[in-house]
Amino acid sequence: MGDRGSFFLPESASTLAPTIDWLFNFVNWVSLIIFVIVVGSMVYLVVKYRRRHPNERTQLVKESKLLEASWIVIPTILVLLVFTWGFRAYVKVAVAPPDAYEIHATGFQWAWTFTYPEGFSVNNEMYVPVGRPVRLIMSSTDVLHSFFVPAFRIKQDVLPNRYSSVWFEATRVGEYDIFCTEYCGTSHAYMIGKVHVVDQNTFSDWVDSGGAGDLATLPLEEQGRLLVQRNGCLACHSLDGSSMTGPTFKALFGSQRATSAGSVVADENYLRESILMPGAKVVNGYPNVMPANYASLPAQQVDAMITYMKTLN
Ligand code: CUA
Repeated sequence: MGDRGSFFLPESASTLAPTIDWLFNFVNWVSLIIFVIVVGSMVYLVVKYRRRHPNERTQLVKESKLLEASWIVIPTILVLLVFTWGFRAYVKVAVAPPDAYEIHATGFQWAWTFTYPEGFSVNNEMYVPVGRPVRLIMSSTDVLHSFFVPAFRIKQDVLPNRYSSVWFEATRVGEYDIFCTEYCGTSHAYMIGKVHVVDQNTFSDWVDSGGAGDLATLPLEEQGRLLVQRNGCLACHSLDGSSMTGPTFKALFGSQRATSAGSVVADENYLRESILMPGAKVVNGYPNVMPANYASLPAQQVDAMITYMKTLN
């Protein structure tokens, strides 16, 4: 066991991880030992007391009080130990420290939006400071999702019309995967994000930039390429011409589109409208399922993504 993970467990990077890992390893090894003892004795006894000739009679079995007591008392102690240990771990995971930094997380088909107390939002890639408790207040705008960061050992269902929450304190600077672990539709498997754990100074700079980080220093086209990934567009739109839940981005710009509102040319205004108001002109043959969650994207991000989409011709 260690920060880098083991055969059974992924790397660990939160204060909750050691508690969970010790408990997991204890249950795992105790189960393994009991399995070996039970199966070993079974095989041994089957061989030792096998019937050797047709007239053989079973010997009289005398009960052993010690043996009877031991297989009642030992498992009871083990089970109560795991219960107490597990209950204490559960309380630790369930109750966030009162001074935690609070971020709102919204799941939707098929991405995550993280809204910071400073007033800006980012999609799929969240930044948090190392060594500080962070509490996520989570909700969904459509179906059930589940927020899972394996390295932090936290997993919590995210539901529509109510809040659920998790907390963690990251112990190591780095990038950690976020998975959705509740099957939530066609592109569930693409509903993935990243937690960037950074030091407090980097985090303050990132917050001051409104969540843009060093994005603003890149050429617009490159910003757009990264934003198309981070905003989760690729869960539904391919770059290689194949049809997914939505139309491909390849050779989209400037093409003639047959839509629910008649034939249109996919110019900048059409792309902008389709990002911000996806139901306005839906391409024929595709369902009107793109969420309205992108309506609040900053104009700068929309500019960058359109600039990038023009390069895919
Ligand atoms: Cu969201 Cu699976």
